[in-house]
Amino acid sequence: MSEVSVHATRAIEAIESDAQLALPGVVVESASEWVWAEEVGEEADVADFVHATVMKSEVVDALRPRAGAYVDATVGGGGHTEAILEAHPGARVIALDRDVVALDASRAKLARFGDRVTFVRTSFGRVKEALGELGIESVEGIVADLGVSSPQLDDAARGMSFRREGPIDMRMDMTSGETAMDLIERLSDDDLADVIFRYGEEHRSRRIARSIKRALADGQLGTTLDLRRAIVRAVGPVRVGGVDPATRTFQGLRIAVNGELEELETLLDVLPDIVAPGGVAAILSFHSLEDRLVKRAFHDRVAWQRLTNKPLVASEEEAANNPRSRSAKLRAACRCSEEGEP
Ligand SMILES: C[S@@+](CC[C@H](N)C(=O)[O-])C[C@H]1O[C@@H](n2cnc3c(N)ncnc32)[C@H](O)[C@@H]1O
Repeated sequence: MSEVSVHATRAIEAIESDAQLALPGVVVESASEWVWAEEVGEEADVADFVHATVMKSEVVDALRPRAGAYVDATVGGGGHTEAILEAHPGARVIALDRDVVALDASRAKLARFGDRVTFVRTSFGRVKEALGELGIESVEGIVADLGVSSPQLDDAARGMSFRREGPIDMRMDMTSGETAMDLIERLSDDDLADVIFRYGEEHRSRRIARSIKRALADGQLGTTLDLRRAIVRAVGPVRVGGVDPATRTFQGLRIAVNGELEELETLLDVLPDIVAPGGVAAILSFHSLEDRLVKRAFHDRVAWQRLTNKPLVASEEEAANNPRSRSAKLRAACRCSEEGEP
């Protein structure tokens, strides 16, 4: 049995044993479209960096690539960059990611494009500085495909999945910053509850935070499955057909550990400076906290003419083939000229 399937089997056993931790009378909230749903393949091979690119043709339609420089703020497995490079022979892409594993994988996948793609290891909140270092003032367009990739979620060692046993880490860039465990240790019960409430939109955050801190104090918080167990102890097990009770808490901790919303806010702030007049920004978000920020930025700032009044969603066919695409919302906007014209 592969390492991954051992983890998966352990995870299933843990889920089954959690059922015995149900608190009488505790009803688990029903699924919401906006909950990050984990759909990990039990036999996924983490050695192969495979991420199914979401809404590829819709992103290319929005960007309408032409000759010039583009930014892929989240290159991941390289799918959107590849689509931009294929769409126009004069297009080149500055491909950013904070995850060195993703950069290595996309560099290998996109080798055939030679110097039409430049890889930069950085967080996209620093996109303006990254372009400055390359001597680029503005670009014809930018795509950001937010959140984590399937290989990041599938890799037990990253601790992002409540279905796989691993360290309570959750960092996209595993070389720096605080892990989720560090965060849990550092925060008070109340501050931990605030993180879970704010970023996970979890209304049972106080109970959950107390249970997590109790597990920590009792020496019972070593792995992601321990973390899930502490959550289940607080709120009860998964209801048949429902969303896992750990979903929102894991999402909240991951967003906090990676500063995901702060990063997005910084990106949205600098976008008007780096997208040339007539250029396009296309942003794919996967939960309401992100989508709200993107919607507000494209709506409120005079720099933008919206290309999508309502966010675009994945086609039925894509949603059927790629579960992750089901929660995707694509918003695109055109950078107006100095005179306010698109
Ligand atoms: C959903 S994946 C992108 C997948 C890619 N579009 C593709 O088609 O393969 C998101 C990627 O963005 C990266 N990422 C997330 N937040 C980031 C940030 N603030 N700065 C840089 N990279 C980030 C993650 O490490 C991950 O590799």
